[in-house]
Amino acid sequence: MSAPANPPAERTTGGTGTTGSEGSTGAAELAARFEREFGTPPDGVWQAPGRVNLIGEHTDYNEGFVLPFAIDKTARVAVALRPGSTVRLLSTYGDQGLFSTGLGGLEPSAAKGWTKYPLGVVWALQERGIEVPGLDLLLDSKVPLGAGLSSSHAIECAVITALNDLTGAGLAPEEMVLATQQAENDFVGAPTGIMDQSASLRGSKGHAVFLDCRDQSVQLVPFDAESAGLVMLVIDTRVSHSHADGGYASRRASCELGAEVLGVRALRDVDVSDLEEAAGLLDDVTFRRVRHVVTENDRVRQVVELLTDQGPGAIGDLLDASHTSMRDDFEISCPELDLAVAAARANGAIGARMSGGGFGGSAIALTPAPAEQQVRAAVVRAFAEAGYTAPDIFTVTPAAGATRVS
Ligand code: GLA
Repeated sequence: MSAPANPPAERTTGGTGTTGSEGSTGAAELAARFEREFGTPPDGVWQAPGRVNLIGEHTDYNEGFVLPFAIDKTARVAVALRPGSTVRLLSTYGDQGLFSTGLGGLEPSAAKGWTKYPLGVVWALQERGIEVPGLDLLLDSKVPLGAGLSSSHAIECAVITALNDLTGAGLAPEEMVLATQQAENDFVGAPTGIMDQSASLRGSKGHAVFLDCRDQSVQLVPFDAESAGLVMLVIDTRVSHSHADGGYASRRASCELGAEVLGVRALRDVDVSDLEEAAGLLDDVTFRRVRHVVTENDRVRQVVELLTDQGPGAIGDLLDASHTSMRDDFEISCPELDLAVAAARANGAIGARMSGGGFGGSAIALTPAPAEQQVRAAVVRAFAEAGYTAPDIFTVTPAAGATRVS
């Protein structure tokens, strides 16, 4: 999902994404800070990235297809296991101070702000019968919060990668995906799918992750905008959103209703050619929700084919079509996202769409490198003219998934 209710950090101001390239220097600083705070060195430092979804929105919980990529902005955790059964959590942000709780009977109500993400992961591991000992954890995250870039999943994926290593649990990436989904759904309270954590855990530098959400099979698809003379701009509208709120859940409920009326296990099982008949069986709103999911699944497959055969320069129209479908059929866009997309397109982007769960967050705009400044300036100008808060605009590139860094 996205915006923590009590974010661990001030919203970062973007730039061109330095976190992923901080490499071991950042990790060494985090380890040193951990030692100052907790008195002994950590057992290690792990990181996990946020994600941008190239295409395939609200298709994951319909057992469909998604094509996200891990971005070069990460959450890092320094962790040490301790004897006993106390979890101590600290972040590098703000003045929230040390949070401490016992490991027995973990309840969401015990969590404070961002601590629900690591505690949710510990709880999900316990639910799987994995014994988690006491631990100290220091978090640092450069994934912008509330921007629709999966800042919460980045934290969860960094934590589960660390605990999987440290406890020797030996979970496969697919199992870590399901455990973090359980943490989100049942501990954090956001009814989200498996896309974000799959990108964060299974992403690969220079690639998008083509994920079949029914069986979790993954195909890494080369996505190298730069060598095609393009940049991927993220336009963070600064409109915050939370998928623990009603809009996301109501879209999910409409999809479930549509599948039930159409007599299929999930909307994944409906083809574009079935839509005409579906129109006669569903009420107007449910039909439009269904049409978005069905056509979006189709667009994901087309984008994969085009990327493979022709490269990133060929996918612009499908990005545009995806946005139109989310704006008109799924109704999860907002005026700021629509303006960002329209201004980017009108000033040289070859394709643009809102990305993520919707109701705020970020748009992406695939832009020829020579037009980057023009697009940036036009979007900023359009927001100022509309009286909106200035957007935060930065570039992203597909980066590696979660890993131990020291
Ligand atoms: C959020 C959820 C994902 C997915 C997207 C919409 O990011 O966390 O599971 O449903 O929205 O595509």
